[in-house]
This record gives sequence, structure tokens and C-alpha cells, in this order.
Amino acid sequence: MASPTIESVLNESRLFSPPASFTDTAAINSLDAYKALAEKAAADPAKFWAELAEQELHWFKPWDTALDWQPPFAKWFVGGKINISYNCLDRHLTTWRRNKAALIWEGEPGDSRTLTYAQLHREVCQVANVLKSLGVKKGDRVGIYMPMIPEAAIAMLACARIGAPHTVIFGGFSAEALKDRLNDAEAKLVITADGGFRKDKTIALKAAVDDALADNGVPSVENVLVVQRTKAAVTMHEGRDHWWHELQAHADAHCPAEEMDAEDMLFILYTSGTTGKPKGVVHTTGGYNLYTHTTFKWTFDIKDTDVYWCTADVGWITGHSYIVYGPLSNGATTVMYEGVPRPSNPGCFWDVIEKYGVTIFYTAPTAIRAFIKMGDELPKARDLSSLRLLGTVGEPINPEAWMWYHTVIGKEKCPIVDTWWQTETGGFMVTPIPGAVPTKPGSATLPFPGIIADVVDLDGHPVAPGEGGYLVIKHPWPSMMRTVYGNDERYRRTYWEHIPPQDGQYLYFAGDGARKDEDGYFWVMGRVDDVISVSGHRLGTMEIESALVSHPAVAEAAVVGRKDDIKGEDIYAFVTLEGQYSPSDALKQELKDHVVKEIGIIARPGEIKFADALPKTRSGKIIRRFLRSLASGEAIAGDASTMEDQSVLDQLREG
Ligand code: WTA
Repeated sequence: MASPTIESVLNESRLFSPPASFTDTAAINSLDAYKALAEKAAADPAKFWAELAEQELHWFKPWDTALDWQPPFAKWFVGGKINISYNCLDRHLTTWRRNKAALIWEGEPGDSRTLTYAQLHREVCQVANVLKSLGVKKGDRVGIYMPMIPEAAIAMLACARIGAPHTVIFGGFSAEALKDRLNDAEAKLVITADGGFRKDKTIALKAAVDDALADNGVPSVENVLVVQRTKAAVTMHEGRDHWWHELQAHADAHCPAEEMDAEDMLFILYTSGTTGKPKGVVHTTGGYNLYTHTTFKWTFDIKDTDVYWCTADVGWITGHSYIVYGPLSNGATTVMYEGVPRPSNPGCFWDVIEKYGVTIFYTAPTAIRAFIKMGDELPKARDLSSLRLLGTVGEPINPEAWMWYHTVIGKEKCPIVDTWWQTETGGFMVTPIPGAVPTKPGSATLPFPGIIADVVDLDGHPVAPGEGGYLVIKHPWPSMMRTVYGNDERYRRTYWEHIPPQDGQYLYFAGDGARKDEDGYFWVMGRVDDVISVSGHRLGTMEIESALVSHPAVAEAAVVGRKDDIKGEDIYAFVTLEGQYSPSDALKQELKDHVVKEIGIIARPGEIKFADALPKTRSGKIIRRFLRSLASGEAIAGDASTMEDQSVLDQLREG
């Protein structure tokens, strides 16, 4: 495991207090108020969460035990009965929010649609009944492979309503990747669309589902429900494939929400890890509902007048927690956008903000860096005065990008919440509370109340302020992942065994390097394992290597991240070829396309370098740190004496 390095952020000393215009109306409006909450929570986290669960959510039946902790397995609100679709929809219908906009959707070729809470509820109930009519029962897994259209959120809520765990697979994944995930989850049904619009093109989603299911590729899938979006020609397989709009038209709009155990599985979401295939991260109902509800409410200081927009895709955890569940549980208005910025429409984000009067805008550093490159004229030409709060997620934000976001977009009046969290954590872990915690450019600041976070060495001892170490969480929290789907052992190994327990206290290992400064602020420095982040998308180097070696020309492959000004990191692959093949540009292209076929467009290597051999230790392990240096054009740091064949490095350098 590489140890974290401390870069320029060490010298960052700017401090931005929440502006008075913000604190005036903020629910948590001073550092003292934050500290009081955090102290109360730390004294007895289970009690703290139990009180919030009672205040904030609807329960069909109260729980018996707030927390049952058998490390590393946690159960929250044991015995409680709850339904997250009920909390996101039904409970708002008896209030004035009934006709409030729940979901505002801005579609690609100029389409748009707004669904009120009552309308969203109606459609969710209909689709829940459609799923039932297709034989989906409580506990059955449903795959969702969709573009960013309202039906994606409706599908998720419909599954939650009847207690069928969903597994959303990002529309940018290939048929192969889709097949792996559907098989791992043993999905009974897949919800998809004929296609989706992406960057002035369309992508053929239904065709990818057909490929995944061909030759009985996913034996568990019995039915496919297809939304009509692009009107592309698709083949409908008799008896297996059904049009969403046809079945919805005949479906009853009444469907009571299933009373779920708090610990019943809500969803599986696949994410990349260090070894092997992507892990199915399991989240359950009650704790996830409470935690996404509370973090959304406090971190975004949400008001009924807010128009909130998160630019993520529902295929990622950010979309699950902070486009769908967190906002709707709070009765907020959430904007969903089908497009992505691109040369033909570089100002599209600012257009959406102006069009809907967005007040809270939540995006990723990679997008911010891309906008900086496009120049200040685009945002300056739009009216962004509705904005009152900004957020960022996905990777460390460099102070320069933070300052641009603060001045050009936020006009120095919007606090920035830099939210550190993961698929595994379900919700924000380290983040400013915007009316209370002063911010520093590049720091996620302080833990959310109830989260006991620290930076430790590999023995589990806290490191001194300013020193690099590993980010850990010391007490279970309601939305922590419960396990890796079907693999408790992998869950234990990946998250709980890197660092030994301290005085009987188990430490959750996040896989991120970090440091804490004198004020206790967290500075996250990035992954310390073989996970790379390309435009904020998490990819395991192993996954890409496996994809490469599945091509007949490739003998061996090693993949590392190379620093990239916009994407954060780019994929750099070193490849050795089988004897009968020789290097060529055509082969490079072919290998890149092959990775796209195996995983998806997000995994396309930026660079492939052919090599005669890879640097290895005497025991045959590839020395990645050398490859990382080579990829970034730096001098090779560290001792090369453990290498089996010293000439390999010279060759790589020259080649
Ligand atoms: C990184 C995304 C620095 C981190 C929600 C983490 C961040 C991984 C931040 C999880 C942040 C996320 N500052 N790094 N504010 N937010 N990360 O599972 O390396 O897709 O471990 O969840 O993204 O990525 P994931």
C-alpha cells in the first residue's frame, strides 16, 4: 500500500467564515452550535441517532434496539418497520407539499418535465404495481440501467415501495459489465430504456441489455421493462420484454408501501475495489433513510423555498443519496439533468441554474476544472444570483478550483460544502455545516455530528497534526454499508482488517489518505490503494488490467493513474504483448476499444505503452510505484535494488 503524500495543501491558510447573509437564516448558525451538536452526538451516538429517527421519519412500528453492533456487522433500529418510499412521498401528501415540485427534469434535446409530490407518488404506485404484475416480490432484486430521466427515480422508488432491492448500473457501463453485475445480484427483472441521449449522440441501452441477456447470459432475469426515450428501433422479445408506458397505462395508482424491517436490504450498488470484481455494496432501509435525510437537511441547510440541483448520475451513490432519497425524504425540490457539458453546449449548467432559479448547486471538482478552462464569460453571461450554497464531491478539490468556484460562481456570498464520503458510507461523513463551520479551500473540514473520524497510522494510532495517515471511522453510523453482497468475508477483509482494533474499538478503513491540521480540519489526499479516480469515477486498476489481458494480444498489463489537470487522474496502461504480436497504433486503438467493450466508456485508457517487460520484485510482484513515476514522467523514486531485472527500467524509460 502506498503511503499518502502531503502536497501543496499543507500551506493553505485561507479561512472563510460563513457570510452573515447565510447565517442569518441558517438552521445551525454558529461554530458553537455545531460543536454542541457534535459533542452531544459523540457522547452517545446511538441515542443521538435514535432521537433523530423518531423526530424525522415515519415508522409503521418503532424499533426495539437502536444499535446492535457485532463488529464488523451493524444493525440499526432493530425491529422497526419503515418504508423509504413512504417517507419520500406519502407523508408529504397530507401537507401543503402535495402540489410542490418534487422533481424538475431538464432533458437533453430541450425536453423538460416537472412532477409534483402527488404526481410522483401516483407514477411510483403505478410502476410498483407493474413490477408486481411481472412477478417481482419483496426481496427480489431488480436491475436498473437507465438514462437520466424521471423514470430512473420512479423505478428506484417503485422498487423500494414493494421491498425489491434495486441495483442501478450506470448507463455508461458496457453489456459485459452489466451482465456481471446482474448475475452477481441475481436480478429477476431489468428496467431500461430504448436508449439515452449523451453528448449529442444516443446510446443504445436496450441493445446492451439484449447483449447481456443473450445465450441465457443472465439466467435469473425473467422480464425486461423498457421506457421509450429516444424512439430508437429496438427488438422486443416476445414474453420477456414489455413497454413501460403500455403497462403503466393500465396500472392501478394505489399501492400501499410495504412495511419493511429497518434492516431489510434497500439496494446493492457496485463499486470498484483493489482486487477482483466490483463489490456489491449493500445498504439497508432504516439507517440509510435516516442518515441521507439528516445529512441532506443539515449540510444543505435545506429550506422549502430551495431549488436544489445535484449534477451526478443516479448510477452512482451521489445520485442515490442526494438526487433521490435525501432530497425527497425532506420534501425538497430536486433537479435532474440529462445532459453533460460538451463543446456544443458549454454553458448548459449555467443555463439550467438560470432557468430554474437553482439555489443549491452540487457538482464535482472535475466539472469545475473543465469550466475554468472554458473561461469566465460563460457563467458571467448568465444570471446566477439565485445561488446561495455550493457543494463539491468525488475527489479532493484543489484550492485554485475552490477559489474559482467561490468567486466566479458563488460571487463570494455562497458557502462551499466540500463533502467527503463514499459509496460504502451511504452519506456525507466529513463536511462543513455551511452556516456554522468556516471553510478552508481544499479541506472537507469537520466530521458530520455523530461521526467519529480520525487519521491514524497502520497500527491504529492517531498521527500528529499535519502528518499524513489513513482516514478511519471509529463508531458505526446508520448508513454504513452492511456487507459486500454475498461475501461477508470480503467485507471484513477490505474494511476492517487493515488496521487493528484499538482498545476493542473497531476502525473502518476508508482507503483514503488524509491529514488533520491544528484545527482538527480534515484534508483528504486521495486513495492509498489501487483504485484510481477518473473524473471522479472510481475504477480499480485490477479491473482494467483484467480487461486488457482478456485480449489475445496481451500477455501482461499493469495500470496506474497519471495526474490529469481536468480529470484528476487518467488511466495509463503498460502492456506486454504475446510473441506473435508487435506494437502498433492500430493495436493501441484496438486495446482501448476492447476495454470499453469489457467495462465501459469511463474506463477507456488515456495512454497505452507497450513494453518488453514490466518492473517486478524478485518474488514477481509488479512495482507500481515505478510505473506511476514513469507514467507521470518523473524520476524514479526509491530503491530499485529489490528489482529482479534492472535493465527493464532503462528500457521503459527509453521506449
Ligand atoms: C473520493 C463518491 C476528497 C475518495 C461519493 C473516496 C473525495 C472516493 C471526496 C469515494 C472529497 C469523495 N474530497 N476525496 N470531498 N469525496 N472522494 O464511492 O477517494 O464513488 O474514497 O463515492 O472518492 O468514491 P465513491
